[in-house]
Amino acid sequence: MENEARKKRIFSGIQPSGELTLGSYMGAIKNWVALQDEYDCIYCIVDMHAITVRQDPAQLRRRSVAQLAQYIACGLDPQKNIMFIQSHVPQHAELGWILGCYTQFGELSRMTQFKQKSQQHADNITAGLFTYPVLMAADILLYQADLVPVGADQKQHVELCRDIAQRFNGVYSDTFTLPEPFIPKMGARVMSLGNPDNKMSKSDPDGCVYLMDKPEEIRRKFKRAVTDSETAVRFDKENKPGVSNLLTIYCAATGKTMEEAEEEFAGQGYGVFKPAVADAVVELLRPIREESERLMADKAYLESVYREGAQRAQYLANKTLSKVQRKVGFAAR
Ligand code: TYM
Repeated sequence: MENEARKKRIFSGIQPSGELTLGSYMGAIKNWVALQDEYDCIYCIVDMHAITVRQDPAQLRRRSVAQLAQYIACGLDPQKNIMFIQSHVPQHAELGWILGCYTQFGELSRMTQFKQKSQQHADNITAGLFTYPVLMAADILLYQADLVPVGADQKQHVELCRDIAQRFNGVYSDTFTLPEPFIPKMGARVMSLGNPDNKMSKSDPDGCVYLMDKPEEIRRKFKRAVTDSETAVRFDKENKPGVSNLLTIYCAATGKTMEEAEEEFAGQGYGVFKPAVADAVVELLRPIREESERLMADKAYLESVYREGAQRAQYLANKTLSKVQRKVGFAAR
């Protein structure tokens, strides 16, 4: 219907720089699935972001397709959502360049993720690693996204994206929708099982649960999860970071509230609690793993999804990009 109000739009993405983790599921994908009916959604596999640190080419190619299979297996419906691979839509790089000319060196220098990653990759601090948040801003702004569901670690980048958009709109009149981050109450920052002071990350195989881990692997990882010398199962982030993280994972996996979880394990020790968390995660991930294994056997289907996704994305991206090109003064083609 012509005068039907446009549904609000979502954009989000994950780097295929490693296997998908329980952290990216709880911080991001779970909400993508929950929001897919209410919003017009675009979900991307951001391979151009992944090459900001060195990748093995064959692995990157395989993971990009595997990640699409896992998105679908998590419950994202390719009929409802646009899903594509970032490098298939060249408008991201084009808008990224333009926005880089409206971003301050000082702003990028303040990004905490840049500071962390440049320490981790001290021998290879590339210009791409530095300007990465500009490409992320282009991802979001190309589609005029209203909402960006991400984990807590990406909030600063979404805020920078708003600042860039606001600056551009101020100079050239309204061009970009200002996006809001959407950060879940439970699971916004899943911590490492081995070191609960650090974020769970794909580059830390022991502290991290991968969506494709088999049940015995998941049980082994939870068995070795760091707790503390008490026995009480209670949420206290300061003094009991390990147990609090496990409780959060349990709640995010089962949909229970923190009070319900604490009550359930009251008077029980970690010997009961840890296997119960492992079981909840095993049951959460089992159907996802099985479905993505099935989808991986059907490469033609996956190709058709990402090709169609890229076509639809290009159509939308072009609308914004041509407007931007005209506004900054590029000659008509
Ligand atoms: P990436 O690939 O590091 O992570 C993907 C998503 O998962 C969330 N996440 C977590 N959430 C909770 N606990 C954790 N331990 C955890 N680890 C990861 C992240 O917050 C993120 O939502 N720059 C982005 C990718 C990106 C993007 C975008 C996101 C590129 N363009 C545009 C949104 C919109 C990144 O590196 O995420």
